[in-house]
Amino acid sequence: MKFKRVMTALAGLVLSGSSLAAGGGAALEHANVNVFDNAAVQRGARLYVDYCSGCHSAQYMRYKRLSEDLGYSEEEILANLAKPGSKIGDPMTSALSKADGAKLFGVPPPDLTLIARVRGNDWLYSYLKSFYRDESRSMGWNNTVFPNASMPNVLWELQGIQKLVTKTETGHDGEAHEVPAGFEVIQAGSMSGEEFDNSVRDLVTFLQYLGEPGQIQRRELGVWVILFLVLFTFLAYLMKLEYWKDVKK
Ligand code: HEC
Repeated sequence: MKFKRVMTALAGLVLSGSSLAAGGGAALEHANVNVFDNAAVQRGARLYVDYCSGCHSAQYMRYKRLSEDLGYSEEEILANLAKPGSKIGDPMTSALSKADGAKLFGVPPPDLTLIARVRGNDWLYSYLKSFYRDESRSMGWNNTVFPNASMPNVLWELQGIQKLVTKTETGHDGEAHEVPAGFEVIQAGSMSGEEFDNSVRDLVTFLQYLGEPGQIQRRELGVWVILFLVLFTFLAYLMKLEYWKDVKK
């Protein structure tokens, strides 16, 4: 009985934790990220530099590490992905200072190095797709996954502009409430819906890589470790045969 009660309490804790992480309450879409797809990480890195690094830092990542992991030369990194004037050993800081960020947006844009670990891929993917026009907000944008976020939709030129469609639902209190039901595109972007989804997936792939850059090397190493173990097992077996031959005599 006691065991059952403890388990129920634990399950409750886990569940409340995951709903906290989801925030906002909007249903999340599946991101389907494959961090071992190097081309996707490379495309994501470019998008990140073009659309995010102006406001956000990823200060626990250095350009040098990026060049080693992504397979770009140091020259390519400095010419295409680094902040102008950077050295290869520099961390990926933003041109925007914390103080200016706070002044401009009310909240300074947070560092994104570990954001995939904090929020999870599905949350990031859904968040980046869920901006909609809202004239009541100072930036003119709102978000169903992160309601009243002070970040504008920086990808609107690619995605287009969407507005929120709501429906009326009766809540637990018996009152009628307007709840989000979906989006309607009011101005097309330069990408189709599918192209945009793929780009956001690339971006999230890069953010997952940022959160744990070691995972790529670890998998490469893992293959060699398994091969070694298989080979070693075979050798050990041969050795066993050899020893037992003498014992049986
Ligand atoms: C114009 C400045 C600006 C740009 C460019 C920008 N952001 Fe933001 N971002 C913000 C601000 C400000 C916040 C803080 C929002 C808040 O807490 O209300 C934020 C918050 C976030 C968060 C939520 C962090 C949390 O609290 O969990 C994520 C994720 C994020 N940004 C990702 C991105 C990505 C990915 C890009 C590039 C596609 C990007 N941002 C580009 C300003 C920006």
